[in-house]
Amino acid sequence: MSTGVVDAVLPSAELHLHLEGTLEPSTIFELAERNRVRLPYADVDELAARYDFADLQSFLDLYYANMATLRTAQDFADMTDAYLARAAVAGVVHAEVFVDPQAHTARGVALEEVLDGVGSALAAAPSVYGITTGLIPCVLRDRSAADAMTMLDGVLRSGVPVLGLGLDSAEVGNPPSVFRDVFDRAGAEGLHRVAHAGEEGPPAYVWEALDLLGAERIDHGVRSLEDDELVARLVRQRTPLTVCPLSNVRLRVIDDLADHPLPEMIRRGLVVTVNSDDPAYFGGYLDDNMTALRAACDIDDAAAELLARNSVEASFLDGDRKRELL
Ligand code: HPA
Ligand code: ZN
Repeated sequence: MSTGVVDAVLPSAELHLHLEGTLEPSTIFELAERNRVRLPYADVDELAARYDFADLQSFLDLYYANMATLRTAQDFADMTDAYLARAAVAGVVHAEVFVDPQAHTARGVALEEVLDGVGSALAAAPSVYGITTGLIPCVLRDRSAADAMTMLDGVLRSGVPVLGLGLDSAEVGNPPSVFRDVFDRAGAEGLHRVAHAGEEGPPAYVWEALDLLGAERIDHGVRSLEDDELVARLVRQRTPLTVCPLSNVRLRVIDDLADHPLPEMIRRGLVVTVNSDDPAYFGGYLDDNMTALRAACDIDDAAAELLARNSVEASFLDGDRKRELL
């Protein structure tokens, strides 16, 4: 439990954040008006009433539909800047953020609009917000490996600085193994590699992400706890898990925040971090996740400090900036 004192905002790195998941309902309406996109909801309240998800897929359906409002580099820059402004308030000093290029190119938006817009806002973040940043485009695992390779090629050719490659979207039935060649290519190009695994999918997908994709971090990974041998490996290798408590509750991965396995994950020696995933859809940003977690679970001040330190350790920052933040 929290001490009851207002929880201090500890300087942290955010490592699991989908930029498109930061589009607030009001922003979706503003962008729709700017770009003359017709929305199937009358107003913000009608949209917000749909944020009652049964599972990951029911969320993804709305998440992808709302992306129709993003058209130009300016839209992507504004979305990214709004996240950074809010993240600064949450105590985020370094952010490694996801974007889903295929979700935009598939509906006719040029890759350059996406990457130039996001990239310009991220590049300005150190001077504007004191936040260092990195960009991690994600492969949509419910599309083909060939489509993923085309995306990676385009990203590499764009000249926009990219930190790594990720894997997201509908997990069950879309195992990491399908994307082995794509992640091999990313590794050969010097990119870091991360993957969503063990959110709705089984521990076997976490093994695949580690062994076949070379994943250096596992996004979510909460289902790893079902496999003792896997936990032992993650602990031994100090492979970080980017856990998203409010997301897990809203997508019904976990029934109740009070039953969230994060305290158990800490006790078992896993390198866990707290993140907001899709904060506009799941009830809050990094500070909101920490506050809710501490109100519901056994996270004392020392554990909160450990989580903040883990986030910096788990980042892909270079040694100097890492030491500065630790
Ligand atoms: N899981 C998988 N894919 C996603 C998510 C998530 O939580 N958010 C956005 N894309
Ligand atoms: Zn995610």
